Amino acid sequence: MIEGITDEPSTNLVNEHINTVHDFEPDWIIGIGGGSPMDAAKALWLFHEHPDLSFEAATKPFELPELRSKSKFIGIPTTSGTASEISNLTVITNSETGVKYPLASFELTPDLAIIDPVMVESMPKRVTAYSGMDAVTHSIEAYVAKPRTTFTDALAIEAAEILKNHLLSSYQGNQESREQVHYAQAMAGMSFANAVLGNVHSLAHKSGPTFEVPHGCANAIYLPYVIQFNRSVVEDRFAALARRIGLEGQTDKELVDSLIEWIRELNREMDVPNTLHEFGVSEEFFKEHVDTMAENAVQDPCSGTNPRETSVDEMKQLLVAAYYGQEVTI
Ligand SMILES: [Fe+2]
Repeated sequence: MIEGITDEPSTNLVNEHINTVHDFEPDWIIGIGGGSPMDAAKALWLFHEHPDLSFEAATKPFELPELRSKSKFIGIPTTSGTASEISNLTVITNSETGVKYPLASFELTPDLAIIDPVMVESMPKRVTAYSGMDAVTHSIEAYVAKPRTTFTDALAIEAAEILKNHLLSSYQGNQESREQVHYAQAMAGMSFANAVLGNVHSLAHKSGPTFEVPHGCANAIYLPYVIQFNRSVVEDRFAALARRIGLEGQTDKELVDSLIEWIRELNREMDVPNTLHEFGVSEEFFKEHVDTMAENAVQDPCSGTNPRETSVDEMKQLLVAAYYGQEVTI
């Protein structure tokens, strides 16, 4: 058993533990915990099956070699958000460069997921808020992503409605709501595993390690700004989702405004920041890194499925808006 993985997984972490997995020769690998331990277990699974695979080769989307010649995989989440127990991803930071990559392949989809609300009964409030906002982001990004289908739409929009009705109540300690959120995050996972995601995740992946913003918190910050940016191409989709989850508005524009305001209000009520500045990133540190982050974010695989094409300059403007809390008008 490998225990005590609390940080988001990295290549160093894989190197530290891979020999334990090789020596044990497991028939099944069980990833149990939040997104980080499950992603770490998936990465150890991958490099146990293919010890000679380079990290660089593994980052090429949907080009991983076959798994399961040695082990199969079970995911058991103890938080409600990442859906790593469902998804075809493991998100790993390259320890040499500090850059975070989602490794994507249907080979990484677990053989079995055990989604049991008992596992999240004692989830801390902050984890409930951050992981819950990750799930909200999954449902909204998947609903507008380029590869979306009727099937992924159904899962995404139902998940969004359940999260609208239950996330705040789960945060406040209601166990029935916590159960509903646990199911909704898995549904959002089934959706985004097929529809993929968008710029919110690109920005979260590429800024998270440097600014030390946890994944769900980063998504919660970026989501309203990316909706403002994407609304010029998918306003009707955002409006349909807003209407379905019960938000007010006579026109598509009003509905999308309501969606953005709902996210910001939910963040405030769960003590989640709405800007990078509010999170505590210093202006000097932000300015030092913003250009590299914008370049890296454009290259993240999630940018390719964002509904609107995004240049490096536009990605930088999104980061600047999210730092200072400015409206995105591009
Ligand atoms: Fe996520």
